[in-house]
Amino acid sequence: MASLITFSLLLSLSLLAAASPSPYLSPIFSRNYNAMSTTLKIFTYIPFKPVSFPSPAESLFYKSLLDSPYSTHEPDHAHFFFIPFSPDTSTRSLARLIRTLRSELPYWNRTLGADHFFLSSPGVRYASDRNIVELKKNAIQVSGGPVPVGNFISHKDITLPPVFDSSEFSSSWIPAPATERVLGFVGYGWVRDRVLVKELIEDPEFFMESEPPPPPPSERRNYGERLGKSDFCLFEYGGGGVVLRIGEVVRYGCVPVVISDRPIQDLPLMDVLRWQDMAVFVNGGKGIEGVKRVLRRVDEESLVKMKRLGAAAAQHFVWNSPPQPLDAFNTVAYQLWLRRHTIRYAERKEWAQS
Ligand SMILES: *[C@@H]1O[C@H](CO)[C@@H](O)[C@H](O)[C@H]1NC(C)=O
Repeated sequence: MASLITFSLLLSLSLLAAASPSPYLSPIFSRNYNAMSTTLKIFTYIPFKPVSFPSPAESLFYKSLLDSPYSTHEPDHAHFFFIPFSPDTSTRSLARLIRTLRSELPYWNRTLGADHFFLSSPGVRYASDRNIVELKKNAIQVSGGPVPVGNFISHKDITLPPVFDSSEFSSSWIPAPATERVLGFVGYGWVRDRVLVKELIEDPEFFMESEPPPPPPSERRNYGERLGKSDFCLFEYGGGGVVLRIGEVVRYGCVPVVISDRPIQDLPLMDVLRWQDMAVFVNGGKGIEGVKRVLRRVDEESLVKMKRLGAAAAQHFVWNSPPQPLDAFNTVAYQLWLRRHTIRYAERKEWAQS
């Protein structure tokens, strides 16, 4: 008995001591990141036509990439090849573009596109053309938001963290006193299921924004304050890009609750962060009581831990111009770096010999 008490005492002491739990899936994140930041090289093909991207995340990514120290003019030193094309490029033009790369340069054939990547928000759709099949199946798709079902291949594709105005963020999360805390916050448009919206508006345990917030800056500070007082932030996972704001709310210590009817594969930084330990995933269709049942099962200790993980991960969601270490751009570069092993080295060797 005594040893059991000692054990649980030690356990709780060690939990207290773990002041900053790691939000990373990899126990050697820092080492990998440092290796990436000094080594990664990316070659960008010259676009056939001028390229522009509609979403802020995509255009920032593109600009950051071209200006970045990862960028190289020597394809023979590159780990990755970037194929720039505008989102309105037709399937036929895209096929022609890949065919040209394939026939005129040696790089595509070496891996059939596996060390190539491209930016496309709608994602590339299946087509029978061989060039498109290889682009879709082998090359890494980087998109600015959730793409239509079937246009995302989870072992290789990447979702960019969304861009938000971070200028008014307080630099660190200050936990709100227990008396001021509410169960949940739901921003305008974060949940669209009409029944659930109605229930949320009527529920005193949730703060639900039923109309769009007035323009910044006045409202922003309130917004951060509200998030800081809320234990959970609710999002309905669906076609819209709103769910991606989970990266923004974790900064304030609001634990994302993702309501979904299907498995979620395309959260930003999915293969970097421990989303399973930072967010709560709830099956849709069970109404507000269903959501609350799940939330009540989260005890205070786990809640604090989730908030800390979120706060520790927050820097990875911030876009800077120019990019800063560990920010959104560099973390996406790190995601590319993680994918360098999918390259078919055997084929590359054959090429070197011939
Ligand atoms: C790449 O392979 C294809 C055959 O699949 C060939 O037609 C093409 O010429 C090769 N590209 C180069 C640059 O040799």
